[in-house]
Amino acid sequence: MSNPSASRPSPTQESGDFYVKAAKSRAANRCCGTPDAVSASGYDEAALANAPEEAVQASFGCGDPVAFTRMGPGETVIDLGCGAGLDLIMAAERVGPEGRVIGIDASADMLALARKNVLRAGLADQVQLLEGTIEALPVGNQVADWVISNCVINLATDKAAVFQEIRRVLKPGGQAVISDLVADDLPDWVSAHQDLYSACISGAVPEHTYLALARDAGLQSPEVIGRLVYDEALVRGLITDALPLPLDEIASRLAITRQELIDMAGRDLAGCITSIKLRIARDRA
Ligand SMILES: C[S@@+](CC[C@H](N)C(=O)[O-])C[C@H]1O[C@@H](n2cnc3c(N)ncnc32)[C@H](O)[C@@H]1O
Repeated sequence: MSNPSASRPSPTQESGDFYVKAAKSRAANRCCGTPDAVSASGYDEAALANAPEEAVQASFGCGDPVAFTRMGPGETVIDLGCGAGLDLIMAAERVGPEGRVIGIDASADMLALARKNVLRAGLADQVQLLEGTIEALPVGNQVADWVISNCVINLATDKAAVFQEIRRVLKPGGQAVISDLVADDLPDWVSAHQDLYSACISGAVPEHTYLALARDAGLQSPEVIGRLVYDEALVRGLITDALPLPLDEIASRLAITRQELIDMAGRDLAGCITSIKLRIARDRA
């Protein structure tokens, strides 16, 4: 007998497809729900100037993790959920020709975009792109001086495994800098639609849970070094024009109009969603 769930895409596959669609629809570069998420995320204009426009436009991050590292020449960096590659490119500029940057993403299509952008930036010799999930990284133990990740861990269905993997792949004394969305008190209606998971909303966990998962994995000194709490305007921007959300379909499932959905989201989610920057370290043993 056939298993009806066997052909159903996993949340990881669905979120990969969602971002490929978003990258193609010019909704990109607005993931934070602001008119220009790249500058709102704090990317340094001078560093951005060297990145291909296509990588900037297809960026779906909620911060600039590279800027909060001290990565330097010759080091090895792993980017969890690299998407179309903007952070990979910025990391590769920092580590130089003697260094190595490994980008990992579950979506072959996002990796294809990243490959093109890395080639455009002339950094193909330094960057390796691997298909895989961040819950089971396709790399060996203790290979990275730095792990970075930008708005991806909220999408992982097993976040405890992600932090265990971060500890496994970091060299002793290595560090991770993560930008991500966390959320408190999300209303029940938010979990009703897969696209709100893909939009980095319903998979987000509270900050204290996020930090506890890092500590439980044996990572040390988790420190939140930046926070942006989404107010009503940011929430409205996130759901209306930052991402290709099927608002009419979501509204119809909730038996309300599109405008009522937007108003409800602005009202219910303001103050619930926060973009954080987190620094964590692996012990020296
Ligand atoms: C919000 S986008 C962020 C992409 C990139 N970090 C950036 O800043 O533009 C999320 C990315 O994570 C990938 N992804 C989602 N779940 C994943 C998982 N469990 N393992 C690996 N990649 C995943 C998606 O394919 C997508 O490219």
